[in-house]
Amino acid sequence: MLKLEPKYDDIVIDTGRRDTASQRAALTVANVFLVPFIPRSFDIWTLQKVTTLIGEIRPINPELKIFAFLNRSDPRGRDNLGASELLSESDAYTFLDAPLGNRKAFSNAAAVGMSVTEVKPRDKKAINELQTLFNHCQLAMNGAG
Ligand SMILES: Nc1ncnc2c1ncn2[C@@H]1O[C@H](COP(=O)(O)OP(=O)(O)O)[C@@H](O)[C@H]1O
Ligand SMILES: [Mg+2]
Repeated sequence: MLKLEPKYDDIVIDTGRRDTASQRAALTVANVFLVPFIPRSFDIWTLQKVTTLIGEIRPINPELKIFAFLNRSDPRGRDNLGASELLSESDAYTFLDAPLGNRKAFSNAAAVGMSVTEVKPRDKKAINELQTLFNHCQLAMNGAG
């Protein structure tokens, strides 16, 4: 991973849903750790595992910025708010209040290996959500991680 660094502006490592050796290896050298949470399957057990992992990685990579956010959020209902409140409670990471909705545009784009900013027809709401998340990340990069 460090060998690739001089060759690229950004390197994205997509790790699985589990705590794997490859994920831990990536976290030892990463600059940013993005942690998406689905509000529906949200439960304190997963959050506790992530918080424990962060506690173990922090001493090894103290500069690591960690951002949690909601993915596949619901268009309505109380789940988003409940999940956001829960995620806001921890100091282990920075919670970004910039949810990505559960939208066909995201899955259609993923299916062809692209971003919603690249595929046609353009879904303005999806693009806006992604841009807002990006802006929140950038703002937070200059603040606490
Ligand atoms: N915000 C979203 N809206 C709609 N579909 C989504 C969204 N996020 C993920 N998906 C769908 O779920 C699939 C897996 O998503 P991903 O975030 O890669 O989760 P995981 O890697 O944990 O399976 C994507 O390829 C896409 O089809
Ligand atoms: Mg995936």
